[in-house]
Amino acid sequence: MSDDIIKALKQKYTDLGENPTNYLKGLLHAKPITYWDYVEVDTLLSLQKPRTNYKDETVFIIYHQVTELVLKLMTHEIKQIVFEDDLNEPIFKDKLKRLIRYTDMLITSFDVMKDGMSYDDYNEFRMTLTPASGFQSAQFRFLEIYCTPLINLVHQNKQSLLPDSPSIDDIFEHIYWRSAGYNPEDGSKTLTLSLFEDKYLDQLKELATEMQGQTLAERFNNIDNPSEQLIKLMKTFDHAYNVKWPLVHLKTAQHYLDKKGENKQATGGSEWKKYLHPKHQGRQFFPELWKDDSFLEFNEVV
Ligand code: HEM
Repeated sequence: MSDDIIKALKQKYTDLGENPTNYLKGLLHAKPITYWDYVEVDTLLSLQKPRTNYKDETVFIIYHQVTELVLKLMTHEIKQIVFEDDLNEPIFKDKLKRLIRYTDMLITSFDVMKDGMSYDDYNEFRMTLTPASGFQSAQFRFLEIYCTPLINLVHQNKQSLLPDSPSIDDIFEHIYWRSAGYNPEDGSKTLTLSLFEDKYLDQLKELATEMQGQTLAERFNNIDNPSEQLIKLMKTFDHAYNVKWPLVHLKTAQHYLDKKGENKQATGGSEWKKYLHPKHQGRQFFPELWKDDSFLEFNEVV
């Protein structure tokens, strides 16, 4: 080992007011790190707990867990944009490319759900999961709040219902996803939505307050003369996340719940056929970038 490294190590512990020799002796006895400890493999593989004996329930659980991990990777990148003090175009582009790559992973792998499970098994074990639904994925909702001013999460047709200068509470009253949380028959709130709001609504409002003026959309607006490529990356991400993913997800819901026009009720109890279509949701992270282009029919080339 080079003397320089020994010297630097001694300096490090001396600066901390510690005795360097004790630390160097400790290294003599430390066990080598292993893959399984570092990656926490045993913990990770202990987190799948099916509620039935249907084999494909394990596929269903693991794929949802993979999605939650990818959403965590995405949030990790988004935070590095929105909280970066010295944000510039190269950093922005690099992070957007990562976000697009992760969204593409979610889109191209979704056939694990559509074609990778038995239709009959899914329709049996899913009943055990009522009233749980992917609708209750909090990461999905947090990510939206990082990306766009809260007002953009109210469908354009509903924005007129808001008072002038609406508060965060006002906006949450009309946020697009609440429309999936009422029983179509009697208009009462579903248990799926109540449980979700009990657990997460305060945290969502807190994040929305913190993000005011510094969402991904607003950080983009502060970039001087954004290049065509940056604009294209923004649009590609918006379109992939808010049109392409919802469409593969909807196609899967149709495959299991609407075979031969059956229109089965989903575990979350929503009017899912209407609700899940991007046209109905009107969710757009960067609406100002779509003035001259069709959002639903965008054909990106980055
Ligand atoms: C067999 C596979 C799946 C089916 C049939 C399905 C079906 C549905 C349905 C019908 C809804 C509407 C809410 C409800 O009434 O429950 C929904 C919402 C949702 N699901 Fe899935 N889903 C599937 C897989 C997944 C996966 C793997 C994820 C990943 C986490 C996911 C995430 C979501 C999200 C985030 C929502 C809310 C969408 C929004 O508000 O725009 N789903 N799903």
